Amino acid sequence: MTRHLLDIVDFNTAEVMAILDLAEQPIESLGRPLDGHGASLIFEKPSNRTRHSMEMAVVQLGGHPVYTRGEEIGFDTREPVEDVARIMAGYHSIIAARVFDHATVERAAAALDADGTEVPVVNMLSDRSHPLQAFADALTMRQRLGVLTGQTVAYVGDYANVARSLAEISLLLGMHVRLGCPRGFDADDAELERLSTIGTGTIEQVTRAAEAAEGANAVHTDTWVSMGQETEKAARRRAFEGYTVDDDIMALADPNAVFMHCLPAYRGFEVSADVIDGPQSAVFQQGHNRMHAARGALAFVLSEVTR
Ligand code: CP
Ligand code: NVA
Repeated sequence: MTRHLLDIVDFNTAEVMAILDLAEQPIESLGRPLDGHGASLIFEKPSNRTRHSMEMAVVQLGGHPVYTRGEEIGFDTREPVEDVARIMAGYHSIIAARVFDHATVERAAAALDADGTEVPVVNMLSDRSHPLQAFADALTMRQRLGVLTGQTVAYVGDYANVARSLAEISLLLGMHVRLGCPRGFDADDAELERLSTIGTGTIEQVTRAAEAAEGANAVHTDTWVSMGQETEKAARRRAFEGYTVDDDIMALADPNAVFMHCLPAYRGFEVSADVIDGPQSAVFQQGHNRMHAARGALAFVLSEVTR
């Protein structure tokens, strides 16, 4: 069965560890699994990190990335998602997409599975999750903090795609996850229940940023206004007042805690300039790790394809 990369929970703890290890292996040791093969990268939303890290990861694995904007492809407007996936799978050994609706990548994967076509579908961010980001987040935390089991990861802000994937990977790695989100932008009871069944970690949700950060080894946040929510900007900025990760919040965390953000960041809103540009910030290492993590994740899913 093809190993698609749609969500972190498509992988178990041993597989996540294997991907993190692959991410740190010398490129030459990975054996150019995409030699002579294409990778289709489709973006319905803007990107800096995801596009560049994926293009370079594909090149490092011997392949050729082909970038297309979502408007050109027109998922379900120009042609059905399933037709796009079936055509692309004849040209490419990886189909990756950044989409508004998570169902788009699920339907692409299901269409290929129904045909027995072994081409992995990779989610490069959907409304639900951002698994490639989470692999880079875990890699960065492991490099900065050592063994992650038993350490505490705090997430302050909007419980959305980035937070969900971060929570999932942290739980698989046995971490204590503490979410600090305003009501209405938090994980609901069903989601907390689902998270509580993942891995050996623990999940807790609080309403105040300060409570979430208390003693944490890593403090993460994300924009308050995700791509596609631009019309809600003013209302969201009001709703998230008091959730800025600033020096006062970082002072409550462990003295050796790292600050992390998937970027792009909006200084003065979800994070103060002092924190993101300060000594505890790991954001550029985290951003650079997107390429290493993508290479590791692609090498893993390709290694499961039976050619
Ligand atoms: N973190 C992240 O996914 O960045 P881009 O939107 O620039 O790809
Ligand atoms: N939550 C953000 C992440 C950007 C990388 C968004 O969806 O726009």
